[in-house]
Amino acid sequence: MTGKLARTDGARVRDSAVPMVKAEGVHKSFGAVEVLKGIDLEVKQGEVFCLIGPSGSGKSTFLRCINHLEKINAGRLYVDGELVGYRQKGDRLYELKDSEVALKRRDIGMVFQRFNLFPHMTALENVMEAPVQVKGVGKAQARDRARALLERVGLGDKAGNYPSQLSGGQQQRVAIARALAMDPKLMLFDEPTSALDPELVGDVLDVMRDLAESGMTMVVVTHEMGFAREVGDSLVFMDDGVVVESGNPRDVLTDPQHDRTKAFLSKVL
Ligand SMILES: Nc1ncnc2c1ncn2[C@@H]1O[C@H](COP(=O)(O)OP(=O)(O)O)[C@@H](O)[C@H]1O
Ligand SMILES: [Mg+2]
Repeated sequence: MTGKLARTDGARVRDSAVPMVKAEGVHKSFGAVEVLKGIDLEVKQGEVFCLIGPSGSGKSTFLRCINHLEKINAGRLYVDGELVGYRQKGDRLYELKDSEVALKRRDIGMVFQRFNLFPHMTALENVMEAPVQVKGVGKAQARDRARALLERVGLGDKAGNYPSQLSGGQQQRVAIARALAMDPKLMLFDEPTSALDPELVGDVLDVMRDLAESGMTMVVVTHEMGFAREVGDSLVFMDDGVVVESGNPRDVLTDPQHDRTKAFLSKVL
């Protein structure tokens, strides 16, 4: 695994390009409960964008809006310059068909807190599944690629293991390899290490660090402040459905400006 790679600050981040994610006044309610109350933010291409905040602040909901697992109620959300879930013609919006949404979702990898591997498939089969079933990649080619990806996440020797024969950290690395098999342009991580025993967290973070170094654009909901500080290019603190504070992770974490950020950090740091 890569260990510690020195970060050349923001060198991967492509400033000039169209943002990978752009949120403008994003609102989301479940029934009468407004969970996102106008989120504005921008994730640049190549950026590692960390999202922190207390439980219930809307972090997961926002991630789910990015890949249109949730529909927003107001505002605009763009991925790589395209509206999520809609096509714009003049000043009117037309909702995309499910098949069109599914096609776009292929470009976005998502890794959840729980590993969500198929229990009846080996690590290798888990990683091969989507390219074969969804993209129609040939089995031999998908298998070679899956082996290379398992190698990349440090699990070359576990290809034949079933999820039940892997530790939580290993399962989570398989989940990352599985997402990468679809060649996403954006990776979303929702507390990928929260369910892991402490001694297994490091290996998963190393894989994520390696992925960041390779130039992948990543939105990471995390409680790992060390990771956010060392690997993150930007950090947003969310509370109660709004962005309270954002900036360079080192600045926000060492010198928070808002009381709510201070209160949160004093509990987690
Ligand atoms: N499908 C849903 N239906 C109703 N309420 C939901 C749903 N998903 C999330 N919520 C509510 O939205 C709020 C934000 O949740 P969530 O986005 O999971 O926060 P976080 O990830 O920051 O902990 C919570 O109050 C949660 O109960
Ligand atoms: Mg959550």
